[in-house]
Amino acid sequence: MAIQLSIDTTRCIRCGKCVKVCPGRIMIQAEAGAPIGLQYTESCISCGHCVAVCPAGAVRHNHFPEATVHPIDAEQLPTPEQVLLLCRARRSNRALSDRPVPQEALRQIVEAAHRAPTASNRQQVSFAVITDRAVLDRIIRFTIDTFSGIARMLEHPLVRPLLRRLKPELYAYLPAFRRLQREYAEGRDPILREAQALILIHTPRENRFGAADANLAYQNGSLMAEAMGISQIYTGFLLTALARDRKGRLLRSLGIEGTVHAGMALGMPLFRFPNYIDKKPVTVREIPAQEK
Ligand SMILES: Cc1cc2nc3c(=O)[nH]c(=O)nc-3n(C[C@H](O)[C@H](O)[C@H](O)COP(=O)(O)O)c2cc1C
Repeated sequence: MAIQLSIDTTRCIRCGKCVKVCPGRIMIQAEAGAPIGLQYTESCISCGHCVAVCPAGAVRHNHFPEATVHPIDAEQLPTPEQVLLLCRARRSNRALSDRPVPQEALRQIVEAAHRAPTASNRQQVSFAVITDRAVLDRIIRFTIDTFSGIARMLEHPLVRPLLRRLKPELYAYLPAFRRLQREYAEGRDPILREAQALILIHTPRENRFGAADANLAYQNGSLMAEAMGISQIYTGFLLTALARDRKGRLLRSLGIEGTVHAGMALGMPLFRFPNYIDKKPVTVREIPAQEK
């Protein structure tokens, strides 16, 4: 939809806040208190900053009609201590019950994920929510089959001697691949860890920042899940298997187009962790001022 942007001069108080926040320098003001002008409106990325920041409701943007603008009650925001505690408490909890994840919770996790920033505000991140047992089982099976194939290839007597010398790091993973197969054969789920829901986060193939956008969405969603007492696990094995599925067999069968960059397995925890633990010491280096 082409952008229509204007300033309602009967409402504008000329505070200049829209000028300061617009990433494209579309709003201009010759001096403090002067009327707001517009330039390069065609380069607007529809981030909505101008609409959201205006204290007088004076910015008219056709992508943000009144019903899409909501006041923020700053008193309701979590404190920095609460945000940090949430980050500390978030874990990949793999002790899950067989209770389903409530649909409403999945909806809220997706909403939180969808709120994450995207490069140039493209908002091309999509979510596939899977709760059907048969489909989850098919995805687990697909991943196991992929890793079994990789293990077979690595152990092939004609391949092994050469590849072991050229790519020794691949062989470090072999025991893990074998463990996946063993656990699966024993009736366990080493891929989704008995999760009852899976959210696949994907973008169009041509989106250059698709991986960054999708993984920022993931992290919003994972913190939301933690806040609701729902466990999430990043599905790295599944992503590896999807990346190897050059013909996109699995995704096509699920009706998913584009590239899946992140996957969140979700389940109801059997219990919560009573403690958080320290991570390795953080690496931070303050770059000293450079000599001129
Ligand atoms: C890129 C990535 C891939 C991961 N893949 C898996 C996976 O396939 N299976 C799994 O159980 N956990 C997976 N994890 C979870 C990590 O093992 C976990 O985040 C890490 O051990 C730290 O634990 P925490 O998340 O509880 O802090 C993955 C995490 C990331 C960031």
